[in-house]
Amino acid sequence: MLDLTVLIDNNAAFLDKELLTEHGLSFYFKVDGLACLYDLGASDKWLNNANKLGIHAEEVDHLILSHGHKDHTGGLSTFLQVNKSAKIFVSDKAFKYKYLTYRHEKPRDISSDSSLFAKYADRFVLLTEDCLLSPHVYLIHNRVFEHRLPVGNQFLRIVADGQEKPYIPNDEVALVIRIDDGIVILSACSHSGVLNIIQSSVEITGCSKVLAFVGGTHLVDTDMEEKDDVASIARVLADKYPEMCLYTGHCTGSAAVDVFSEVLQNRFALFHSGMQLKF
Ligand SMILES: [Fe+2]
Ligand SMILES: [Fe+2]
Repeated sequence: MLDLTVLIDNNAAFLDKELLTEHGLSFYFKVDGLACLYDLGASDKWLNNANKLGIHAEEVDHLILSHGHKDHTGGLSTFLQVNKSAKIFVSDKAFKYKYLTYRHEKPRDISSDSSLFAKYADRFVLLTEDCLLSPHVYLIHNRVFEHRLPVGNQFLRIVADGQEKPYIPNDEVALVIRIDDGIVILSACSHSGVLNIIQSSVEITGCSKVLAFVGGTHLVDTDMEEKDDVASIARVLADKYPEMCLYTGHCTGSAAVDVFSEVLQNRFALFHSGMQLKF
């Protein structure tokens, strides 16, 4: 049994005006007796939502950061102020580089705050390989490169050793939870491609029954991303993973949402701040 709350997302909780929204993502869930957060959104707004939803941030046992982009780690300073004990699991690359986006007119710095990493070094567990967080929870890196990466990645760059280079999403960590005979996959931006991440999850866990994929797909609305590309992804999801529901939001653009909804029908839902899912 897994109870999952979308703590903050781009999509607003239209029925609850007290819950905040922003361009960012954070999930809260309990499994194996542990309270976990996966990402913290772009700012301290996640804490407002946690308080409103009766989630005690100070009692969180584990924080997992999906990758180094600020819309997922921006709430870290607030977290470190309110939670004094949780370990923070993150790729060893996430705080190492400067990240830039060229999506808008001028390049924008979307790096995580590396000063927090330096100041609270003893709180961090740096991931270099896949691991078990608890008996039913896997932290995994993408290992499948069969399917094309999201076109929207082309707007992203890293600065490494003083040199600007294309972004390679090797800082991404997905979270896979085993429930009975199936798995639920949590991902954030899915810069590695949703199909690659699901296939990696199946390979690593040895479980092909995918119950749900919950996360953004980075199929942002760009002129370059053809609707046909999204439709072919949706069809692979529908055929290859017949038990899977796709719950998405965050960096999934409205054109992609329409296509997923059309192809997957009742196996598709758009999430929002405050949404609760049970598996
Ligand atoms: Fe994101
Ligand atoms: Fe991202």
